[in-house]
Amino acid sequence: MRVLVAGGAGYIGSHTIVELYKSGHRVVCVDNLYNSKHKVIKNVEEIVKAKIPFYKIDCCDKKKLESVFKKEKIDAVIMFQGYKAVGESVKIPIKYYRNNIDSALTIIELMDKYDVHNIMFSSSATVYGKSAKSPIKETYDALELNEITNPYGETKAMIEKILMDKTIADSKFKAVILRYFNPVGAHESGLIGEDPNGIPNNLMPYIAKVATGKLPYLNVFGNDYKTKDGTGVRDYIHVVDLARGHVAALKCYNKKQNLYVYNLGTGKGTSVLDLVNAYEKANDKKINYKIVGRRAGDIDKLYCNPTKANNELKWKAKLDIVNMCKTSYKFETKGGLGCQEKKQKKK
Ligand code: WQD
Repeated sequence: MRVLVAGGAGYIGSHTIVELYKSGHRVVCVDNLYNSKHKVIKNVEEIVKAKIPFYKIDCCDKKKLESVFKKEKIDAVIMFQGYKAVGESVKIPIKYYRNNIDSALTIIELMDKYDVHNIMFSSSATVYGKSAKSPIKETYDALELNEITNPYGETKAMIEKILMDKTIADSKFKAVILRYFNPVGAHESGLIGEDPNGIPNNLMPYIAKVATGKLPYLNVFGNDYKTKDGTGVRDYIHVVDLARGHVAALKCYNKKQNLYVYNLGTGKGTSVLDLVNAYEKANDKKINYKIVGRRAGDIDKLYCNPTKANNELKWKAKLDIVNMCKTSYKFETKGGLGCQEKKQKKK
């Protein structure tokens, strides 16, 4: 298939492009580079040994995005584009609603106009809200309970609803909704990985900065949760397994149903301290940390029941926590994309 990957220069988008190529699919990448770098596309090209058609376009810009639909023959669209920082979304909600909802609606309208009927949406476990009991199944409907704790999560839930309503109205339109748990790790080459701007919000990239001496220590947000060691428990999934889940999900477009929803996770809960210990062992590095107060909005446990995706997509997360930690560290020691760019400029 020829897949338009919206937000393809991002962490998950770039890893998915690699796996799409490895499975014989071809890609057209669109990204406004708001939260990523063009260097990512160059590095993906180095990994797949092929040129990636890339358009630096904001998916809210209908006129510019239409030029891609006009020029390229598209069989399916994967929507990764969107702002995704939970904390930031609480501070600037209107930007999040405008950007995330507008870009999704723009893409869907252009798909209609150019007869593209297959869409895959990068959703998030955040849509399960704060009361879901882990292991969580896809049937848990937080939408009705309105338990989502932040505008970022609300945008994910709203786009899911938009897609569900569209599939009811249009039997030709096929939507696959993938709810990610906590993506971590990097491609084995160390050429692509999680490269957030500034101080990382998420645990794994923060640990990576501590491991490489770029930050002095990790703040562990609370050790009084109802978990085995008191620290937050999450379902960390290797980003390459996550990317492979997207490739596996393409088979849904050959099936008769036109709406599919899957959790993409390992089904295993890992605490903050578990991850710190695993990182230290995998990379023989000391991770200094301090226990501090809880972070607003955090919950005790969040991990999935992945059996629906395992059975229906014939997909299962295979890469273990050691690989997650080793590849994260390798990417960080290669200096992440920023430093590679700096090296580039020195020549
Ligand atoms: C994990 C655990 C923290 C940082 C969010 C989004 C989710 C997805 C992944 C986009 C928690 C603890 C963290 C730190 C810490 N993003 N922690 N110190 O909050 O589970 O999920 O990112 O799709 O939608 O909600 O991920 O990595 O921020 O936190 O102790 O410096 O690590 O309290 O228990 P989270 P996270």
